[in-house]
Amino acid sequence: MTNPQSPLPTPRILLTGKNGQVGFELQRSLAVLGEVVAVDRDDCDLSNPDAIRDLVQRIRPDIIVNPAAHTAVDKAESEVELATLLNTTAPQVFADEAAKLGALLVHYSTDYVFDGRKDGAYLEDDVTNPQSVYGKTKLAGEDAIRASGCQHLIFRTSWVFGAHGANFLKKPCCA
Ligand SMILES: NC(=O)c1ccc[n+]([C@@H]2O[C@H](COP(=O)([O-])OP(=O)(O)OC[C@H]3O[C@@H](n4cnc5c(N)ncnc54)[C@H](OP(=O)(O)O)[C@@H]3O)[C@@H](O)[C@H]2O)c1
Repeated sequence: MTNPQSPLPTPRILLTGKNGQVGFELQRSLAVLGEVVAVDRDDCDLSNPDAIRDLVQRIRPDIIVNPAAHTAVDKAESEVELATLLNTTAPQVFADEAAKLGALLVHYSTDYVFDGRKDGAYLEDDVTNPQSVYGKTKLAGEDAIRASGCQHLIFRTSWVFGAHGANFLKKPCCA
């Protein structure tokens, strides 16, 4: 597919977590950049590595954007296996498939890869020291992407909030 405004082919963009906070907004913002194929858990259960492989091989995207994750920080402490599948294995499979296709992987990570003890803003090459299952599984996902050799961008976001979805701003305040 080509864009009449541009001589370059329109990239096909595979977006996960389309109903999440970030995924919902990305559906709109990525639409001007290419052909977006946005999926939710009904289209592909990201705890199933084979389903991820099938999805990527079927769509053959130029860019994979992966904001989907196990984001329930407290729950992850008792759901280690599921958190590992979503936060470590899924990014690893996306990265391996991206490497095979020559696709770019854009992945969302977290400031929870750090221990929060630094006095000041964190830099990309600061030493990581996750304190929770969530942080450890997200860091392992980052490491797997870096080891895969695929082209990638990893965004360590924090304090995410939006109009769509659940976030700290919408939680009732304590007295
Ligand atoms: N929220 C924050 O403050 C914060 C802070 C730092 C980093 N981050 C990172 O930023 C990214 C986006 O966060 P967010 O706030 O947009 O997350 P979110 O609103 O919790 O969305 C997570 C998405 O993952 C999907 N998902 C969960 N389990 C799945 C499964 N088994 N199969 C397929 N999809 C599944 C969810 O689908 P359902 O809608 O069906 O549940 C949802 O669309 C995440 O990688 C997160 O780690 C977030």
